[in-house]
Amino acid sequence: MRMNPENHILVIFGASGDLTNRKLIPALYDLYQKQLLPKNFAVLGVSRTNLSDEEFRKKASEYLPAEGGTNKFQDLLFYEPLSPTNKDDFKRLKSKLKKLGSKKDIAGNYIFYLSTPPSVYEDITRNLSEQGLSKSERFFRRLIVEKPFGTDLLSAQKLNVNLLHFFDENQVYRIDHYLGKESVQNMLVTRFANGIFEPLWNRNFIERIEVTSAESLGVESRGGYYDQSGALRDMLQNHLLQLVGFTAMEPPVVIEANAIRNEIVKVFQSLRPIKECEVPEFVVRGQYTASTIQGKPVKGYREEKGIHPDSRTETFVAMKFFIDNWRWGGVPFYIRTGKRLPARVTEIVIHFKQVPHHLFPSVVIPGQMDNQLVIRIQPDEGILLKFRMKTPGAGFQAQPVNMNFHYSDLAEVRLPSAYERLLLDCMQGDATLYSRGDAVEEAWKIVQPIIDAWQNNPDIPVYGYPAGTWGPEMAENMIVNGQWRYPCKNLTNDGTYCEL
Ligand code: BG6
Repeated sequence: MRMNPENHILVIFGASGDLTNRKLIPALYDLYQKQLLPKNFAVLGVSRTNLSDEEFRKKASEYLPAEGGTNKFQDLLFYEPLSPTNKDDFKRLKSKLKKLGSKKDIAGNYIFYLSTPPSVYEDITRNLSEQGLSKSERFFRRLIVEKPFGTDLLSAQKLNVNLLHFFDENQVYRIDHYLGKESVQNMLVTRFANGIFEPLWNRNFIERIEVTSAESLGVESRGGYYDQSGALRDMLQNHLLQLVGFTAMEPPVVIEANAIRNEIVKVFQSLRPIKECEVPEFVVRGQYTASTIQGKPVKGYREEKGIHPDSRTETFVAMKFFIDNWRWGGVPFYIRTGKRLPARVTEIVIHFKQVPHHLFPSVVIPGQMDNQLVIRIQPDEGILLKFRMKTPGAGFQAQPVNMNFHYSDLAEVRLPSAYERLLLDCMQGDATLYSRGDAVEEAWKIVQPIIDAWQNNPDIPVYGYPAGTWGPEMAENMIVNGQWRYPCKNLTNDGTYCEL
């Protein structure tokens, strides 16, 4: 059993923003309800918007369940207007923290959560440092940094240098919310707590590995950000590569932050670099076009709010690569992500090699001729094993069947949200599920040649795909001797039609 975290104040920069209301406040409320917060605790929201404590609480309450008991939670919330560049504001912040600390009997432990545009990270960290708020001596001082962590390799390196100028690496918690997902953490348990999978988890038995992270939503109200970013930076560089890291890593020596992060970095370092000139062969990008989904017209990406009408930003990306080490030599990895695909699904599919000799006539179902282990990250979290059994009756016909586990079958356990888990971990000083600086840079090294190729060579096509389909045809044809799995909302269904 974990102990409750030490008393502290959580300072959220960018507190009037979307992330605070949609993710952080509900996650903190869940921790409060489960009595996992420290005995003495306060949240101090800061941002440029002029709000009173009361107004901040009222806004937060809109994102809390309509049930009794939220009032006491709201008493933990405070607010202070602050401009990230104004030094005097940080003096005020310091005295506000002191006052709040003595009122709540909280000595001097602070967590600073940066949920602002990255352009002000440096100002905030410098100003905190100048006020002596970054020093971790008698008290803990931790910094949580939201994504995007840079926009390319160089900017990520610069950001690391800047942050590490004012904070030590062990004070910095870089969020990748995919690592906070219960089903992602369960991959470690599936792989390393069972004797049956690990002996097969290598090039001798595995044909290929697929990772899909599909979203049915479009760009929604985030056009301004997304058009500068695209699927490669928004999803692949971080969430998808972390999933690859958990799938491909060697067993860590212990379940502890550095041991796990060391293994993930090794995976990234072993990933065979794609040369700029090889990008068209290994990477396919696409953009959704106007279409009709279930009878309703859906806008194309270029018609969305905040998007340049000639935008070449990718809303879909698929990539093939190899990991050059003893475990994975020669095994292709295929990863893809996109917006406005037929379903919201994230999963990892391990395709095992087929038997060396086919004794039995088989029911041929395309895409299902091999044994597959599907690790479903979301929704319908669980695990599905596809293998072959005899069709009952005369003869020896083999047919594919499923064996599955759904998290929802576990007794009354509600999966905690990713932010709930990650916030609690940081409060406990556990960085296992946060990205280390070197891993983030290694991940940028993998995608940098793709960024360069797309920038330097406008002839590399951006393929259109109708909203509501599985991306451009070029991506469909990427897999040699096989095809992507077409996942549906329910883990055990597959086929081309999916419920949205
Ligand atoms: C975010 C991306 O990091 O992850 C979004 O910026 C994306 O574009 C989101 O929609 C997906 O997260 P989840 O948890 O819904 O799969």
